Amino acid sequence: MRTQVAIIGGGPSGLLLSQLLNRAGIATVVLERRSRDYVLSRIRAGILETGTVDLLREAGAGARMDVEGIPHDGCLLADNGEMFRIDFAAACGRKVMVYGQTEVTQDLYDAQDAIGATIFNEASDVALHDVDSDTPHVTFRHGSKDHRLDCDVIAGCDGFHGVSRQSIPAALRQEFERIYPFGWLGILSRTPPVSDELIYARSDRGFALASLRNPMLSRYYVQVPLTDRVEDWSDEAFWDEFRARLPAEVAARLVTGPSIEKSIAPLRSFVSEPMRWGRLFLCGDAAHIVPPTGAKGLNLAVSDVHYLCEALIQRYRTGSEAGLDGYSARALARVWQAMRFSWSMTTMMHSFPEHGGFDRRMQQTELALLQRSEAARRLMAENYTGLPF
Ligand code: FAD
Ligand code: PHB
Repeated sequence: MRTQVAIIGGGPSGLLLSQLLNRAGIATVVLERRSRDYVLSRIRAGILETGTVDLLREAGAGARMDVEGIPHDGCLLADNGEMFRIDFAAACGRKVMVYGQTEVTQDLYDAQDAIGATIFNEASDVALHDVDSDTPHVTFRHGSKDHRLDCDVIAGCDGFHGVSRQSIPAALRQEFERIYPFGWLGILSRTPPVSDELIYARSDRGFALASLRNPMLSRYYVQVPLTDRVEDWSDEAFWDEFRARLPAEVAARLVTGPSIEKSIAPLRSFVSEPMRWGRLFLCGDAAHIVPPTGAKGLNLAVSDVHYLCEALIQRYRTGSEAGLDGYSARALARVWQAMRFSWSMTTMMHSFPEHGGFDRRMQQTELALLQRSEAARRLMAENYTGLPF
């Protein structure tokens, strides 16, 4: 087989890149290790920045989001029961959209089907070859057959555990990492959300987040030690702990019910530089991970896709590789901004085992600053709603 751009990974970044390139007349083949049902059953991000919303519309995958997504122009922050609101619209004139990653992925698969894009689900043994030459290719197994896919460029959109980043020689990669000493236990439940707006709650028992997917679907999280396992947490234990970390007036109106999904995600900040090697370009979680506290992961994947797509369109329309040569530096500049924001939100809102009185006072002071200072609120709102692409 031959294509112009071989895309490894059919998560949000791979599908969006494929969709945008196809619409620009550039041929792609997507290779995804998992089945479509498996990809669509993963419960992950819930918050879309304005730039993400715009790009999904541009990709022709925004119609259902515009009907079912819920625009939010603020969120609530709580510290040991005391709560205040950050008004994004007042602070920076922008807002976010509540619309689940599951729905985004479904819409992208539907859009790809509608234009007859080529996606191999359950492609195994994906391997990259001759990446530092002008004639790269990818081999993989599908069903009982081995395939070879020749291409001009490979887009590595295969997430943190994918094969693309690992194909770059270790000596040419520089990795930056912080592993936090806790994870998030998340549940999804068919109950009315306890709050119309997200509540990020710091408490001496640990962090909790009240989020939502729609008026009858709640998404809630609590910070847990890394040693905890999902099996340790009954629904009752989750509800008790979640309630105890919320401000009393919010806890009093919490409606509980059976969980329909429950999982633990570790928290990590990670960047691999550069995001390019020869004909391989990394996008999204393949190159970087942020802790979910800033709601940035999916949105960063989308800004990478935007930069790479622009560079590829330039290359195919004009023959210039200037955009491709600048891709890594351009993407990384925005990645590091989101790294900083996600790290600072995480540090401000969580309980760290090694923290003492000084660190606690710093958290209180950061939160007080947000309450008191318009400038601090503006900085937070600009970052949360998304820095421009
Ligand atoms: P992925 O979604 O990981 O997709 C990569 C794809 O590649 C997968 O489908 C995988 O099966 C496939 N793959 C892997 N290896 C191979 C291989 N060898 N060959 C072929 N295919 C392969 N982000 C936000 O912006 N806002 C939020 O509110 C938010 N909340 C989150 C909450 C949780 C609990 C978690 C875990 C994450 C959250 N994120 C959030 C992060 C967000 O989900 C990710 O950043 C996003 O999924 C990245 O998309 P991606 O396409 O780059 O990678
Ligand atoms: C979610 O709804 O899953 C969600 C929302 C905001 C975050 C993280 C996760 O910061």
